[in-house]
Amino acid sequence: MNIWITKSPAQILEASEHTQLKKNLKAIDLAALGIGSVVGTGIFVATGQGAKLAGPGVLISFIVAAITCGFCALTYSELACMFPVAGSTYSYTYVAFGEVIAWIIGWDLMLEYLVAASAVASGWSTTFIGLLDSSGIRIPKLLATTPLQGGIIDLPAVLITLAITWILFIGVRESAKFNNIIVAVKILVILLFIVLGIRHVSLSNLSPLLPFGWKGMMAGAAIIFFAYIGFDAVSTAAEETMNPKRDVPLGLMLCLGVVIILYVAVAFVLTGIVPYKEIDVGNALPAALRRIGIQWGGALVATGAIIGMISTLLVTLYGQVRIFMVMARDGLLPAPFAKVHPKHMTPHICTWITGVVTALIAGIFPLPMIIDLCNIGTLFAFVLVSIGVVILRKTRPEVERRFRTPGVPFTPLITVAFCFYLMYSLPTVTWIRFGVWLLAGLAIYFLYGVRHSKLQIAK
Ligand code: ALA
Repeated sequence: MNIWITKSPAQILEASEHTQLKKNLKAIDLAALGIGSVVGTGIFVATGQGAKLAGPGVLISFIVAAITCGFCALTYSELACMFPVAGSTYSYTYVAFGEVIAWIIGWDLMLEYLVAASAVASGWSTTFIGLLDSSGIRIPKLLATTPLQGGIIDLPAVLITLAITWILFIGVRESAKFNNIIVAVKILVILLFIVLGIRHVSLSNLSPLLPFGWKGMMAGAAIIFFAYIGFDAVSTAAEETMNPKRDVPLGLMLCLGVVIILYVAVAFVLTGIVPYKEIDVGNALPAALRRIGIQWGGALVATGAIIGMISTLLVTLYGQVRIFMVMARDGLLPAPFAKVHPKHMTPHICTWITGVVTALIAGIFPLPMIIDLCNIGTLFAFVLVSIGVVILRKTRPEVERRFRTPGVPFTPLITVAFCFYLMYSLPTVTWIRFGVWLLAGLAIYFLYGVRHSKLQIAK
């Protein structure tokens, strides 16, 4: 048994050829795919939470988180172009670090995908309930609140997750066209919010900019980082692009560029029209418009957000199922995870397990707790990706890199520093939960994965 056993680049590329996915996406499709999966609960809901921690200076938090993501995107792109395969970071780590770390990252990616999906469902629920509320329809509080917040279950979050799981089960994938429509809806409602709100910005609300100082601003950035998660969906789709070596970095940068401008503008307008202490955390944007008397605007933004978050949920759950499938193909998860339904041609067992677990997390745990855990896991994944770039330059210099991260090893090291600093800005309890999560993952690897790994068996 060699827990450090690595795959060769040829092995992952070869495995990807068997998946026979169509290769028809271009940079602009990738950017749309990225925006589709990135813009969701983060901007529509978590902005309020970020503003509570950072004050009006949350717009600086957005910039700090964006810079971190920009660096991550640069390192990510190099690996995504070297290995344009499904399975994302998990696949890269199998080559760079060996099996045990690949497993840890695969396990960790559950935080970035599965737990993120729970967060999106949870944010969807607060927005949905807010919209119903403003139209005079009340859902009993006990059924709309998690047990940790005094309720029984967040039922709307559970139901929306199960509905999306069913859609994935019957094999409806978002077509590029449908995704483009949803992306347009999201961008339009965000622009609507900015246009309606900007005239009501009062500069007095923006001062002091950083009431909780540097620490508060970084704590805000650590939360708000969530709003950018998902841009790596672009690299996950590398396998389906016409020219991954050019389209992936371009798609990533385009996606991040658009998103950053929108987010910073939203943060400015939101904290400019509502004193940060009075932001409605569960329903930040629509409530802000209602507050300045634009009821129809609030309803429209909430409706757009609800539609937009559904697509984020779909893409995120789909990403998780894909990663589980790749891990099961490698023997690190039980074979049923990769089993395909005879009629729907989807990995049905894996899809339902993913959906039910996501629904339970969304129904039971409060949103801030879910977001913190998701962020720490994602940042950790980016740390490993960045180190992976440096290691692979040394150990696999022969593999062609049509996109090279500029300034290696400094760029990846700066990325690591940014990620660690954001991780450090998260609460201690999140670190403890993350540690427990990783230990549980390691236990599963030693009890199951290492004995069933195809790579170990073939050795
Ligand atoms: N970035 C995604 C969102 O904000 C996960 O919903």
